[in-house]
Order: sequence, then structure tokens, then C-alpha cells
Amino acid sequence: MNSTLGLIPRKSATEGMVLVKNEEKTLPLNKTQTIAIIGNGCFDYIKGGLGSADVTSEYTIDIIEGLKNCCASVVYESLEKKDDYGLQTCNEFAKQSKIALVSISRNSREGKDKDEENFYLSTEEKELFDTLEKSNFEKVIVILNIASIIDVASIAKYSKVKSILITWLAGMEGGNAICDVLYGDVTPSGKLTDTIAYDYSDYPSARSFKASPMQVCYEEDIFVGYRYFETFKKEKVAYPFGFGLSYTIFEYQEIKSTVNENKIMVSLTVKNTGSFAGKEIVQVYSSSPKTNVMKPAIELRAYKKTRLLQPNESQSIVVTFDLNDMVYFDEPTASFILEKGEYSFFVGPNVRDVQCCGKYVQEENKTVYQTTLKFSFGSPYKLNAEGKLEPTKYWTENLTKNDLEVITSGDESNLIINIDKKEEQKRDTQYTLYDVADGKLSLDDFVKQLSSNELIDMANGQPPALIRGTAGIGNLSRLKIPNPQTADGPAGIRSTIPTLCFPCATLFACTWNDELLEEVGSAIGQDAMKNGVDILLAPGLNIHRNPLCGRNFEYYSEDPVVSGRSAAAIVRGVQSTGVCATIKHFAINNKEENRHESNSILSERAIRDIYLKGFYIAIKESNPFAVMTSYNLINGVRASAHAGLIKGILREEWGYDGLVMTDWHVRSHLWQEITAGSNLKMPTGYADEISLAQKFYSWNLLVREELEDCAKYVLKAVMKTRRFKEANFGKTQKISDFNVLDFICLYTTVSGTKIEKDGSTSLMGIGFNNHFDKVFVDYRIENDNAGEYILKINASVYSEGQSVDIYMDGEKVDEIMLDAPEYNIAKFFTFESKPFMISEGVHEIRSIINGAKIQDGVHYKKWEFEKV
Ligand code: BGC
Repeated sequence: MNSTLGLIPRKSATEGMVLVKNEEKTLPLNKTQTIAIIGNGCFDYIKGGLGSADVTSEYTIDIIEGLKNCCASVVYESLEKKDDYGLQTCNEFAKQSKIALVSISRNSREGKDKDEENFYLSTEEKELFDTLEKSNFEKVIVILNIASIIDVASIAKYSKVKSILITWLAGMEGGNAICDVLYGDVTPSGKLTDTIAYDYSDYPSARSFKASPMQVCYEEDIFVGYRYFETFKKEKVAYPFGFGLSYTIFEYQEIKSTVNENKIMVSLTVKNTGSFAGKEIVQVYSSSPKTNVMKPAIELRAYKKTRLLQPNESQSIVVTFDLNDMVYFDEPTASFILEKGEYSFFVGPNVRDVQCCGKYVQEENKTVYQTTLKFSFGSPYKLNAEGKLEPTKYWTENLTKNDLEVITSGDESNLIINIDKKEEQKRDTQYTLYDVADGKLSLDDFVKQLSSNELIDMANGQPPALIRGTAGIGNLSRLKIPNPQTADGPAGIRSTIPTLCFPCATLFACTWNDELLEEVGSAIGQDAMKNGVDILLAPGLNIHRNPLCGRNFEYYSEDPVVSGRSAAAIVRGVQSTGVCATIKHFAINNKEENRHESNSILSERAIRDIYLKGFYIAIKESNPFAVMTSYNLINGVRASAHAGLIKGILREEWGYDGLVMTDWHVRSHLWQEITAGSNLKMPTGYADEISLAQKFYSWNLLVREELEDCAKYVLKAVMKTRRFKEANFGKTQKISDFNVLDFICLYTTVSGTKIEKDGSTSLMGIGFNNHFDKVFVDYRIENDNAGEYILKINASVYSEGQSVDIYMDGEKVDEIMLDAPEYNIAKFFTFESKPFMISEGVHEIRSIINGAKIQDGVHYKKWEFEKV
């Protein structure tokens, strides 16, 4: 492993852990103090969440190992986990130590929300804390190794619980990072990006979250997280948004604010007046005029983290934001308005402990951006000024549930069909995609060479060419369009091959440190390159609407500014390496249960002011390669085929020029997606979807311009990838030191393969190959020593009876039989071609697999040319 790269998981983990309680200066610990490990949590450390964010880690340092590594003085029962920590056992330990360390863990997964019980302590956990309270221990330190917010307040109530450190799912280096913080090598500097309420039922979305598997009414409207609590229910907050303790103390001095040319600047000096080196996060909020339009009492506008300040050291900080950031979306006029009246600015260490640092008066209502409504009716209920639910006019006056069902069903029988079959024009095929890159012809002219069937194919994901790969894009051999590869995900590369496992996204956000997240992104990008990944399917930035959402750990915050900025920093980091990033899931996918059919029903104001705002920030601040749409419906229309969302907002309003892909196996039709402005149906072509799109084309319901537009987005995207620029024809390699990109696989079909614990392989079943091309790989070699060569391929093979065809400059030179001593994805053998002549000059070498069975594949590790 590259050593600097390997440091990033630990460094980022320490910076996103949040200390919420620390009485009697219990932390940091001293290494001479003996601590007793109590409970199962420390033995069952959870490095990351499950689903597409699950990483096969190179290794995992759990809490026990972390303690050993830092030479802490610890006592515990045995390496085997212990189930019974009754009073007697606890008191036995308390003879050797006055401090107990307990870790509470909660995992989570994609595709499944958590039950309400998961928010609270289990009976066993409660019993353990009750026992510790009665025991001879003097202090209890609690680590919360959790995927999203739980009932922290009940733990804090125990008088012996002196310290609580929320470590989230801290990745492969979690155990080391936790000890860095416990023992004061790193002063905690993370702050909450979600409000911790006293009870689950206090969250404004608690009532609606699980009310129906079919639809979720976003009754709280724009009042998500602290926007709700700070406006209506301050007393329900155990730990406010933005809160986090440090071992040191910071003073805010010389606070000033100025408004200049639409920019608000808050300047101050932060001084470390305590006795530890530490970092502080300065948060700037604003309040809006009190008018008939309901607004949150306070909203985060900007923030900045200091550098590491030594005791007595100060740093001048300037935090800026735009006046226009304070607009709200006015539904009646479909415009973003900066309302007239008085705005106040606040600065502080969290949303609760702020001080007013300036005011601004807007003389007149100002329309900052005029648009049109893009979503139909919203939620049937909304909060009124007192924070109570009342029915909205859309549902009471205008719409019935029937209307909703009609929109949702997408019934095609109503469509007028023109069955005139179109004749395919004969297409000129002489130019390759490399000619477009070389400026020999425009992309507009290039796509004219593709037949309508090829264009439709281009609108589909392509077979994966990576182990446990997710899918590729492009892949048309006749025009030399390679097949760049996608892979998940937010905590590092998901592959069967071990990779770096980073902390979860929520921890990243709690660092509030854009520079650090750029470093994280760059490390993920470098690991992606090492594993042959061109396009990362991350970051995800959906809003934490409810603590039970199964994917919260993959996302950042209840606040769109933190979400958007965190995502932007990760994207900038990833893309600085040449790897492409995909922001997901666009949009309003805040629940996992029945995720393919769940209908998010909400006002257009909530959509724009809360749920889309983070995506807007991420796009403006990082220009991500791709946007992945979500599974859910929005007010009755599938997000993946929502013209208002994709064409209307993403393309026209925001001017986004990158690729738009669906999530995997969405249930909208390909033709609907193309019409709505989406470019790629993932993961791969379904025969029935392709033929339906072909029918729609022949009926003139999909037109050639639409297909060409779609293909242009895909091809522009292909041309941005490393596989286009470097790995295939983008780079010519000398035959003497030829080196293929690691981990290229060829599949005959598109199912993924996974290595089981016993070394055997199993299928992941993505579907069959409905594409024109089998996966092919091209290389360009340069030879200055003409003669006969043998091609040696070091590769693993999944099953017998396969071969690869080798072509040089379009001519087949050999078929190499892949008869391996063992058919195992993890075992590599060398296969040789017969000698063939390679003259001086540049040559194009292509390999294509011939599979014997449905699911066959070869995994190349190395190619070498040996002169005979
Ligand atoms: C997830 C995506 C992921 C994709 C590919 C889907 O189930 O929702 O986030 O990128 O699978 O693994």
C-alpha cells in the first residue's frame, strides 16, 4: 500500500469524531491509567455500512487492536467476546481499574430502514449501563460506533457516564483513530451535522416516515432537522446541530460583519485559550424577516474550520456568503425571492450558542431567479405557524388519490402510435472516437455514424469489466469506443479485491473540513486508479430527513449547505486524480423501504430549498462527471424519468453539462428516461427495454435527435475517462515495457462474480448481455524491434472452455486457449500465444473473450510481449 494514501483513513477518522460529553476532564486518558473493556461493542467494531458502500477492506483495526497498538493499559475478559457483564464481573474489573470503556454499535444497510427500537438502547445495553452505574467503577467512557443518530440522551443520563465520543463507522483504521482521540494525540474537532433529539418521536418526520410503504408525505416541509427544532421545539434538543466538544477552549474575538456588493463577510479572531492544541469550526447563520411567509428561525450559511491552533495561538477567520443565498422559493410566483425586511447574522460554535454579529435590511422584495413550477402538487399536510399539521389546499381542493395513481402508473395505452417504420440510413463508419478527440470531426458528425440501434445501445450501461464490477459505459468496438468502468462507492472502492476502507460519509461531514475532504477524495481516486476504476459511484448527498433511514451513513447531514460542500470537496479530490465522480441519488430519496416504488410527496418549496440545494452547491463547486438519479417517485413521477427534474432543473436552470445516469435496475422505461433527458440506463441493457425503445423510435415517439443528444452526453463522458485517455488507445506503450492496466476483466455476460470465503466463486446476477459487443480491450503498442513475438497473458479464469481472440490492426493473429490448472478468480496463471510477427511501428492490439458458458470471464493482471 502507498504509505501516504494509507494514512488518510486514520487522519480523516479522527477529525470527524464528535465528543458530546466530557465531564471531570475524563478525556483525554493517560496511558498509565488502566481502563477496563466492558461489553461486546469493543470486540465487534463496525468499520462501515452494508450494501453498495461495503468495502472489502485491506485490513481492519478494531478497538482492542487500537488499544494494543497505542500501548494503553487495559484489562478485559479475554479475546473472546463476553456476554455476561453482571455486577460481579464488573466489580472484579473495577478492582484493577476505575474507568470502564463501553462501545455501543449500530450498523445499517442500503435497501432497508431501521426499526424504531434501533434508535433506543436495547434491554441488554440498558442493563449493562444500569449495572455499571451500581458498580465500583468511578467513570464510564462510551464510544458510539453508529451508522446514524441514536438515543444519546439516555446514555448521557447515567451519572457515571462521564464521556461520550461518537465515532460513527470509522473505517479500516477506526481502532487506531479512536485511540488517537481517547489518549489526546488528536484533540476532537468534529461537530454534529444532525440534531440529536431526546426522543425519536421528537423528529418532525417521525410520524410520516414509516406511515406507508408506498408514499411518504413530507409534512414538515422545509422544517427539517434544526430548522424545525430551533423554530418550534428548542426544548426537545439534547445536542444541537453544529455541536461538539474539544479538549481545549476557543474564544471568539473582534467579531465584525460587513455587507459589500451582495456579499456578507463575517470576520473574527479565534484564540485557543485552553491547554491543548485543537481546531475550531466557526459557523455563520442568518435569520430572515418575519413575514407571512414561514421561515426557519435560523439557517446555516457558511462555515470555516481553523488550522491546528496551539495553546494561546490565534487565527483570523473570514467567512463569506452571498445575500442571494438567503432567498426562499416562492411557489405562487415560481421564483426565488429575497424578501424585504431585516436579516440578522449570527456566529458561533453551534446553532444554539450563536451571537448576533450584524444586520442587513432589504428594502424591496427582489426576484433573484424567475422560473416555472417543475413538480405537481405537494404534501397533503404541512406545518402551520404554530408547528401543527394542517391539510394543504392542493389535496383538499384539487386532487384525489386517483389522480396520483394515474400519474404513477405510466399507462402507455393512451399513447398515439404512428407505426410507420423508419428506414435506417446507411452510416458512414470511417471515424473513431479518437478522431473526435483529435479534432478531425465534431461529436455532432460522429454520432451521425451510429445506427439508431447503436444509439439506443449507447443509452444503456455496458458489461462490467472489473471483478465484482457494477457496469461500464460506451463499449462499441467498431468505432473504438472503450468501456470505462464504474464502481461504488462512498467509503472507498467496492471490489472483491481488498481496497482502502474509509470512514462513512456522515463522519466526513462532521469534520467540516473541505481541504481534508479533498485529500480524502484524492486518496479514494488514487485507490480507484490502482483498481482499474474509471468512474466512482459516489458521493451520495441525500438529506438526513429521519434517523431511521438505512442509508444515512452514506450521506452527510440534515443541512443542504454542509451536504453540498462536503460532496463538492470529495468530488474535487476524486477528480483531481483523473477518476470521475458521480453524485447521487438525485433526488429526494430519503427512505429505503420499497425504494423502487416509494413516492416522496412534498412541496416544490421543500424540494428546492432543502432537497435540491445540496446538489446545486455540489454541481456549482465541483462540476461532477455524472449525476445518478434515484429510484423513488417525486409527487407521482419517477425521478429517473422526471423531465422537470432532469431537463428542467438540472440542465436548463443549473446548466449542468455532465452525464445523467439512472440508479441500478430502476423501474422507469428507457424511452421515458431518454425523453426526460437522462442519458444512461444502468447497469446494462435489458432486452425488453431495448426493444421497447426501438419500437418507440419506429413509431416516431423517440426521435433521432433525442437519441443523438443522449449519445453525445455518453460519448463526452467516455472521452473524459482515464480508460479513453490513457489505458486504451489514448496512450501508446513501448512493446519492451508494456504494462496493462491492472484488473481488467473480460466477461461474456454481465453478471458480476464474487469470491466466497472458501475461495470458490459465485454469480451476482446482473443480467445477460444484450449489447452489440462483448467486452473488448484495446491497447496501442510501439515496436522498434521487428520480429516474431509471443504474447504472454497472466490472468485468472473462472471456468473451463474459454479462449481470447487476439487481433492486431484488425487481423486476428491467434486464439489463446485459457486452459488453467485451476478455475479460480484469485489464482493467476500464464497463457501464451503462438509466435506472430510484429513489424516496426505502432500497432493496435485487441482482445475479445470467447466464453463457453453464460458467465465466463478472464481477469488480466499482466501482458508481456516476448521476442522469440
Ligand atoms: C445503489 C447505488 C449504487 C448502485 C451500484 C444501487 O443499488 O442504490 O447507490 O451505486 O447500486 O452498485
